[in-house]
Amino acid sequence: MSKYQEARQYLQNHQHRWLVTGVAGFIGSNLLEALLGLNQKVTGLDNFSTGHRHNLTQVQELVGPEAWANFTFIEGDIRRLDDCRLACEGVEYILHEAALGSVPRSIENPIQTNESNVSGFLNMQVASRDAAVKRFIYAASSSTYGDQPDLPKVESVIGRPLSPYAVTKYVNELYADVFARCYGTESIGLRYFNVFGPRQDPEGAYAAVIPQWVAALIRNQPLHINGDGETSRDFCFVDNVVQANLLAALTDNPPAVNQVYNVALNERTSLNQLYEMMRTLLLERFPHLQAHRPQYVDFRAGDVRHSQADIAKAESLLGFQPTHRIDAGLKQAMDWYVDNLVPAGYRSGEKGAAAM
Ligand SMILES: NC(=O)c1ccc[n+]([C@@H]2O[C@H](COP(=O)([O-])OP(=O)(O)OC[C@H]3O[C@@H](n4cnc5c(N)ncnc54)[C@H](O)[C@@H]3O)[C@@H](O)[C@H]2O)c1
Repeated sequence: MSKYQEARQYLQNHQHRWLVTGVAGFIGSNLLEALLGLNQKVTGLDNFSTGHRHNLTQVQELVGPEAWANFTFIEGDIRRLDDCRLACEGVEYILHEAALGSVPRSIENPIQTNESNVSGFLNMQVASRDAAVKRFIYAASSSTYGDQPDLPKVESVIGRPLSPYAVTKYVNELYADVFARCYGTESIGLRYFNVFGPRQDPEGAYAAVIPQWVAALIRNQPLHINGDGETSRDFCFVDNVVQANLLAALTDNPPAVNQVYNVALNERTSLNQLYEMMRTLLLERFPHLQAHRPQYVDFRAGDVRHSQADIAKAESLLGFQPTHRIDAGLKQAMDWYVDNLVPAGYRSGEKGAAAM
């Protein structure tokens, strides 16, 4: 039995109290769905700055009324210490996802990103410490590797940050580390690489590549690839991220605590390959994609050429074993977008729906 199967089995038989911040967002709502599905008690905190109420409604429908009764939602803001304290009451494990994502957003508004990602993170660390929470698992980021060129990326070797967002995520690691030294707290940082899956937002200027592309493909809109399409990433399906969070929260391996881990697959997929995989998966349901081709535009400033995670540390210390490679994850994600994006587009007459 894998460590993850063991962890799930344990949770099925032992109810704990969790706090998921950023619970109305993409990763937060997937964590919520997994925890409620395992009969856990969950408090969720979100200010809906980039998350959506409809993500919570969808989880409610998926888990059913009995599991949903184990969920308490607090509409609040991690930039306010009192909100953090309220959310931490009686909590054993924190999965801290709330932050403003997106490198371009942080370049446009570094102060706003810093407020949620650094001051908000510090508030959460203080509130967690004062509430004697057992363990604090937080979303770190592959952006911390910055201009470090070597592949695959190993946790101990980082470069200089390339954006304000990357600075904030690195500061999280520094604060978690110093809190462990000064106050004896237990934290684990998970450096997510490009995560994708159901409920990742396809809308807005800061949407991630996979949801942005799937919306363009379904709606038969132009799709832009920055550069020659040979830029590559270690795309990671969200179920693997859920696994890493649960393993990190429950590990009883002392050297595994107060560490940071890469969370991805140690694989690379180019943007050209990604486009073809997505087009092929959608082709049967959307014949217009037979003729669809991407448009190549300039490279985007600040983008690293290749990214790939060494996951040996998570494998050996946490027992992490990704269950979904990119093709299996993309299939699930495409199915979800077809079910959720298409009817919404038709119903509301959103931009592009007429072209379908
Ligand atoms: N998606 C990825 O590929 C990826 C990669 C690396 C790291 N991360 C990190 O993972 C975490 C979750 O990302 P996501 O992709 O689910 O993004 P998301 O935008 O879908 O979710 C973030 C959630 O946090 C909430 N939030 C933001 N600021 C808040 C505040 N001040 N108070 C309360 N709630 C607040 C938002 O409303 C949203 O629901 C973030 O910390 C992000 O930086 C994500």
